[in-house]
Amino acid sequence: MLSHQLLNRSVFMIFAFVCTPASAQRERLRLDGGWRFIRGDPAKLRTDLRYDVRPEIVGSADGKVADAPPEAADAVKDNGARTLKPWILPSANALIADPARRHVRPAGDPGGEVPYVRDDFDDRGWQPVTLPHDWAIAGPFLNTGPYGGMGRLPSWGIGWYRRALEVPASDRGRRVFLDVDGAMSYAAVWLNGHLVGGWPYGYNGWRLDLTPFLRFGGSNQLAIRLDNPPESARWYPGGGFYRDVWLVKTAPIHVAQWGSTITTPAVTAVAATVSQRLTVANDGTVAATVRASTEVYAVEPGGARAGRAAARFDLGSTALVPGATATLAGNGRVASPRLWGPPPTQRPNMYVAVTTVRRDGRVVDRVETPFGIRTIGRDAGGGLLVNGEVIPIRGVNNHHDLGALGAAFNVRAAERQLEILRDMGANALRMSHNPPAPELLDLADRMGFLVVDEVFDSWERKKTPLDFHLIFPDWSEPDLRAMLRRDRNHPSVFLWSIGNEVGEQYTGEEGAAIARRLAAIVREEDPTRPTMTAMNFAKPDMPMPAAVDAIALNYQGAGVRSLPGQYRAFHERFPDKLLFESESASALSSRGEYLFPVAGAASGPVRPGSGGDPDRQQVSAYEIHAADFGSTPDREFAAQDQNPYVAGEFVWTGFDYLGEPTPYYGARSSYSGIVDLAGFPKDRYWLYQSRWRPDLKFAHILPHWTWPGREGQVTPVHVFSSADEAELFVNGKSQGKQTRAPFAYRFRWDYVTYQPGELKVVTWKNGQPWATETIATAGAAAVLAVTADRARIAADGRDLAFVTVRVADAEGRTAPRAANPVRFTVTGPGELVATDNGDPTSFVPFPSATRPAFNGLALAIVRALPGRKGAITIRAEAEGLAAADTIIQAW
Ligand code: GAL
Repeated sequence: MLSHQLLNRSVFMIFAFVCTPASAQRERLRLDGGWRFIRGDPAKLRTDLRYDVRPEIVGSADGKVADAPPEAADAVKDNGARTLKPWILPSANALIADPARRHVRPAGDPGGEVPYVRDDFDDRGWQPVTLPHDWAIAGPFLNTGPYGGMGRLPSWGIGWYRRALEVPASDRGRRVFLDVDGAMSYAAVWLNGHLVGGWPYGYNGWRLDLTPFLRFGGSNQLAIRLDNPPESARWYPGGGFYRDVWLVKTAPIHVAQWGSTITTPAVTAVAATVSQRLTVANDGTVAATVRASTEVYAVEPGGARAGRAAARFDLGSTALVPGATATLAGNGRVASPRLWGPPPTQRPNMYVAVTTVRRDGRVVDRVETPFGIRTIGRDAGGGLLVNGEVIPIRGVNNHHDLGALGAAFNVRAAERQLEILRDMGANALRMSHNPPAPELLDLADRMGFLVVDEVFDSWERKKTPLDFHLIFPDWSEPDLRAMLRRDRNHPSVFLWSIGNEVGEQYTGEEGAAIARRLAAIVREEDPTRPTMTAMNFAKPDMPMPAAVDAIALNYQGAGVRSLPGQYRAFHERFPDKLLFESESASALSSRGEYLFPVAGAASGPVRPGSGGDPDRQQVSAYEIHAADFGSTPDREFAAQDQNPYVAGEFVWTGFDYLGEPTPYYGARSSYSGIVDLAGFPKDRYWLYQSRWRPDLKFAHILPHWTWPGREGQVTPVHVFSSADEAELFVNGKSQGKQTRAPFAYRFRWDYVTYQPGELKVVTWKNGQPWATETIATAGAAAVLAVTADRARIAADGRDLAFVTVRVADAEGRTAPRAANPVRFTVTGPGELVATDNGDPTSFVPFPSATRPAFNGLALAIVRALPGRKGAITIRAEAEGLAAADTIIQAW
């Protein structure tokens, strides 16, 4: 009887071991709700809560020409202050290779007495916020002072976030981590009054182990201080927890942070080798032996996983003493692999590896690693090879802000940007100049964009007084490794950029030594991809270009100002390196603004009366003006066509961004976007489309043809089309037929006399009719027309609808100069998040429900309320115009 009972018990115990409840394994909980927020430190703070002492700002960087050489760092006086740095540095230890260079946490626990970190502090007066959160985007805009560079929004200063964490007693024995996808910036994290650690750089993801400070079976208090330095960026950085924050719970034995790495070292049409390295940590108190195995599944385009595994393999086993980590490795074979590659000629097929870690046969962890199978190389002719096919790089640079939503990351807003770029024909993105939100790389994987992932805008030499150079000595290694480990499984990433226009280009061997150190780190973490650093100054015979694998030029490939283009010189010196323009053009324009007279040259700088209106701070959209060091798209296209070994370009920029409003620093946002800040294409969009999608039949005419008061005056007309012949008609009268000359990329009729009526272009390609386009003079603004980008959005509190309002005349023609204030109202289970119109000079705060149209257009961004389904009506009204609405479904 007794033995029977024992037997039963042991059977039960075996059963319990084998089928460990899911909760004992990994859990990843998004901490988006329940936060309270306040700007500033508590009054009469006696503790120094700064990360470190900072140099004084002597001389603002606002308005400094973007290609100005960076300067040496200022010396900081050590005033004996006891700052938080010694307690924050150990947070980097897992990302520092040399054990001797890792940091030891000093004794003491600074800040515990500060009211905001204490459990009993009453934060009910603080603002409730949901993450992602950008504390500065609501404004107000700072319309005086030297703040144009950072977008005239109050991003700098201190902000505190508090949140309670309930951790059940049943979690005792597990590890509990705080995973932050990005916090702007200089985060310091307290839990239950203890300083856990932090992370200065605002663009990286980081992890803190909360376990030693947790109360299991009760409530815990998180208090996080962020401290965004002024003059820390050349663009709008945003402020706060602008990306997601997660609570990750694991068993004591678990896969380390970013611990699963997949490469595909051999790929043929018959089979691909899938090679995995898996780092497992034992954070428990007893030694154990662990085994791991992986199953690989194809992922269908809609995201569903194929039913049958495409490969299975063992990663072997290892013994782990407490506190140790070990790396397991294994290989599998996927037959007839579905390759990842950029559309339209290839498909972005994805796989997912599901890896199970067992201890004594019991599952202790399971992780999923999405990846793709593809090969990247360089063709003998210089082109980028993806799976053996030459893919011209048709790329854009983008900063991380999402216009009116600011830095707060939103998947749909980013997806919309990529859709607009894809329709233009773009196939590549450069993440200028910092690691993006992880979901942006997921989108790039899914949509098939090639990505340059970039880590820093400055090394030891400064561009702005308080930028990354202050912490480069301590953080360059951990921040670089953080990007590499986080992002190296993404098939979209094909190149690692270790810097952008760094000042070390000017310091010869000394600067190149830093490049070599960083490039060596890249090779350690990922030997499969090349390195680059974007060079606007370094020339072929300088040490910098030799230190990296690919030659990435900013502007100087095509030629800066009157200096000749450098493509040939670099190619001759480095005939085997991939060579491309990492920043091209920096053409400038305001959507829908056409300034007269129009210069005859194909490319020139913006000057008062020549492309620029300094009073209104607008730049002409004839698309023939650029930053002083830049050029028009046309000039860059010609340079590439004349140097066919150039692999392509990344335009500066795809979208307008907040800050850096060259040439008018009184404005809030850039003029360099092909698409404006609201997401409305400028005329340049069709110039790129005509080159990047040469099979698309269209002809785009500029300017608009509504010029009361210009009757009888010269009003040049330009047409963008991939056609090779075009004839223009004004009210039926031919203005001449043109044949496209070699290395010309637009048709232009410079002496057209304006008269109201109809402008028509007829085009031909290879002698066959190609496309015809007609535009007509609009009458007075009479109505509003409202359209949403999608008819249904998810009621998850995150999904968005982008609603465009067009001011039109009685016949529905866009009123191209209309500036009517439009009032938006949203009824039903949705809310208005922000409005915009793409005007770089507008200081109307983004949350405003009233937004003047800018050259006929305005945008409203609407979110469905979480969990509330039904019809959302978005109504637009303007004085004297017929109102309109549109209905979308939240589901
Ligand atoms: C480049 C720089 C970019 C941006 C751009 C403006 O020199 O790398 O970050 O400043 O100029 O055109």
